[in-house]
Amino acid sequence: MPPPTFPITTRRLVLRLFTADDLDALWRIQSREDVTRYLYWGPRTRQEVEEALADRLSWTAVDLEHHRLVLAVTLAATGELLGDVGLHLVSQEHRTVELGYIFHPDHAGRGYATESAREMLRVAFEDLGMHRVIARLDGANTASAGVAERLGMRREAHFVRNEYVRGRWTDELVYALLADEWRSAQVAEPFVGGLPGDA
Ligand SMILES: CC(C)(COP(=O)(O)OP(=O)(O)OC[C@H]1O[C@@H](n2cnc3c(N)ncnc32)[C@H](O)[C@@H]1OP(=O)(O)O)[C@@H](O)C(=O)NCCC(=O)NCCS
Repeated sequence: MPPPTFPITTRRLVLRLFTADDLDALWRIQSREDVTRYLYWGPRTRQEVEEALADRLSWTAVDLEHHRLVLAVTLAATGELLGDVGLHLVSQEHRTVELGYIFHPDHAGRGYATESAREMLRVAFEDLGMHRVIARLDGANTASAGVAERLGMRREAHFVRNEYVRGRWTDELVYALLADEWRSAQVAEPFVGGLPGDA
C-alpha cells in the first residue's frame, strides 16, 4: 500500500512531520497542567520536551516502523502549531493502531482536533491498511470523548478505576472503529444534510 505524502492538508490544517523549530511551541503545550491532566505523564520540563521532540524527529515515514507516528498539526493560514495527532501501533498481527491527539487550549472548541484526527483515520485505514483504530482515554476526559464520538467511534468499554495514574485510580474508556465501518461512513457522508443536487 502506498505511503502517504507529506504534508497532508485538510480544509483548514496542514499535518506535517515535526522539525527542531517546533520546540518552543511544543513546550508551550506539553508544559501545561490543563493539557496533561488526563495523560499518563504530567507537565514536562523544557528538557523533557526536547527529548520527546528528538524522538519525533527520527520518524520520517508513515510506515509505523517506529511503532508510532505523531504529526504536527498546524493552521494552514498561518503555520502556527496547534497541537499533534498520532497513531501508535497496538498490534501488527491484528492491524490495530491507537489514535491520540493533544492540542493547546487556546485552539479548543473549533473542531481542529476532530478535523486532524479524521484525517488520521484515513491514513490508518487507507494508507496503512489497518483493520481497527482505537482510542483510550481517562473516563473524566469529556473533551476527548467528544472527539472520538464526533469521529463516529463506538464506545466499547468503560473500565472502572482500573488504572493507577499519577497518584489516583482512574476509569478508562475505550473507543473503536473498524475499517469497514469507516468505509461505509465515507460512502454515506455525501448524503448527510441533503441529497446530491440539493441546493
Ligand atoms: C482532547 C482535545 C484535543 C479536545 O479538544 P476540543 O477543542 O474539544 O476538540 P475539537 O478541536 O475537535 O473541537 C470540538 C469543539 O469545537 C466545536 N466546533 C466548532 N467548529 C467545529 C467544526 N468545524 N468541526 C467540529 N467541531 C467544531 C465542537 O462543537 C466542539 O465544541 P464543544 O466542546 O462545545 O462540544 C483537547 O481537550 C486536548 O488537547 N486536551 C488535552 C490533551 C488530551 O487530553 N488529549 C486526549 C488524550 S486521550
